Amino acid sequence: MCGIVGYVGYRDALGIVVDALRRMEYRGYDSAGVAILGGSGALAVERKAGRLANLEAELAESGNERFAGTTGMGHTRWATHGAPTDRNAHPHRDVTEKVAVVHNGIIENFAPLRKELEQAGVELRSDTDTEVAVHLVGLAYAAGPTAGDFVASALSVLRRLEGAFTLVFTHADHPGMIIAARRSTPLVVGVGVDEMFIASDVTAFIEHTREAVELGQDQAVVITANSYAVTDFDGNAVDGKTRPFTIDWDLAAAEKGGHDYFMLKEIEEQPAGVADTLIGHFTVDERGGRIVLDEQRLAEQELREFDKVFVVACGSSYHAGLLAKYAIEHWTRLPVEVELASEFRYRDPVLDRSTLVVAISQSGETADTLEAVRHAKDQKARVLAICNTNGAQIPRESDAVLYTRTGPEIGVASTKAFLAQVTANFLVGLALAQARGTKYPDEVAREFAELEAMPKLVARVLETGPQVRAIARELAHVPTVLFLGRHVGYPVALEGALKLKELAYMHAEGFAAGELKHGPIALIEDGLPVIVVMPSPKGRAVLHSKLLSNIREIQARGARTIVIAEEGDDTVRPFADDLIEIPSAPTLFQPLLSTVPLQIFAAEVAQARGYDVDKPRNLAKSVTVE
Ligand code: M6R
Repeated sequence: MCGIVGYVGYRDALGIVVDALRRMEYRGYDSAGVAILGGSGALAVERKAGRLANLEAELAESGNERFAGTTGMGHTRWATHGAPTDRNAHPHRDVTEKVAVVHNGIIENFAPLRKELEQAGVELRSDTDTEVAVHLVGLAYAAGPTAGDFVASALSVLRRLEGAFTLVFTHADHPGMIIAARRSTPLVVGVGVDEMFIASDVTAFIEHTREAVELGQDQAVVITANSYAVTDFDGNAVDGKTRPFTIDWDLAAAEKGGHDYFMLKEIEEQPAGVADTLIGHFTVDERGGRIVLDEQRLAEQELREFDKVFVVACGSSYHAGLLAKYAIEHWTRLPVEVELASEFRYRDPVLDRSTLVVAISQSGETADTLEAVRHAKDQKARVLAICNTNGAQIPRESDAVLYTRTGPEIGVASTKAFLAQVTANFLVGLALAQARGTKYPDEVAREFAELEAMPKLVARVLETGPQVRAIARELAHVPTVLFLGRHVGYPVALEGALKLKELAYMHAEGFAAGELKHGPIALIEDGLPVIVVMPSPKGRAVLHSKLLSNIREIQARGARTIVIAEEGDDTVRPFADDLIEIPSAPTLFQPLLSTVPLQIFAAEVAQARGYDVDKPRNLAKSVTVE
């Protein structure tokens, strides 16, 4: 939530900062702002409520001359404290108007700090928690032990702050320098030639450099055009504790590539995302075929001795977690509990050294999931992260990591990340099964080969796009859509409903089909669209026949049935008002196929209703506050 960027170099900072904000707008789009430091020591600030386009229009109107300078920073906001107005937009300045700040996160002790400032006669000009930080730095710079020392002033304030934050400070008397710091929210340094960047994520500067340094917890960095110096909040150098890395994708991955929306591009990238997530995770050795994880700090012995598994995640990642349960329990006979990360630590779950906690997060920075990981570690459980963002906080704090290699996901709705997470779950399940001996190496090899065949099948499901979009346009103005599934089709139904809610702002609910007669069937009325995910007729016959009965029941009560079923499943045809056919796949892997039409459906309904599918209202891509 909130995207921040800073630049020090030799080029026009405004252009670089605005471009970076455009790429990070998915992190929040309630307001945007920039602060540019001219060589003469003038600090020019502009900020505007609403989308970045509003800020750009304002900048164009006021003329860019004021913003000539080679040091600058910018912010795109997802509001936490204070309404999304001009007055609450970042950057904020201190009373001297010389110090500016942008912030991502929440300063939890802002109330006493605000009172302290008010008592000192400072007049606060916004409703944000952020503003206290800039006034405190201004005061520390003006008088007292850190007077005149910008870095020492900023560090002295950082030591006083509680909560989760990335903060970036500039000072009009110190052009050519930016100070940034992080606790729990992300901050990456982009290392260029004669220019340096800092940002919430690498998409901000991928156009200019692929060399990056990930800051650790409670670290601060001072950047100039030619240097970056990382310290703790006491100013001690932390050489060796940062993590330099080279970004292994390029600008094209962070651009729409001819699509109207990132989401549409990301849906099409799914075959590649599933394939890339599998690459390098299967080797043949003297014991036969083996699954290997990315960063494995768990001993084989530990994998053998776990006696239960918890999966924790939020939103779509939680739905991926629900699917993990079916595979892991089936392959390993280990009990698996799947829990919303936001609930996990508040109910005192039973965790110990023999518990494996699998934390699933595309961003690797979701606050609820991060706190669940920390809680699990406090209780001595071992944590394995499934993550799409190299080096993010959740994988950093975990004992083992499996990266979903699907490239940056910029549309707020999870699509390719979801499919890659589901794929990664299978790898975790197989790794556990091989370690525990519940699957022989040749069985592991067979499952892996089936998985490797899935990307081609996902590509074939994409061909249903025109049919799905036509149905979506017909239904674009209905008030409600229900989704039904059984077994692995149930989490798919939940995911389909979530996509429709978040993108089309339409009432949608997913149900386990067996629950229909326990209440939800009362919702069925003439013409109500119900999307049904049919299990494979080649899987457990009972599942298929029960769902068939459920479709009959709702059709008899007037529902319009839109059925996703395997090609050749003719038994379902008479009960489907619309039949969307997907290729046949092993039961556990079918969600990799059946989810895709639901993503296309939600995107099309949203577009037909005139909504921006990349930036749905009230949402942001990374939820870094609880
Ligand atoms: O980055 P994470 O995977 O931790 O994010 C979790 C959820 O916020 C995310 O999946 C969210 O539900 C998506 N907007 C769903 O499309």
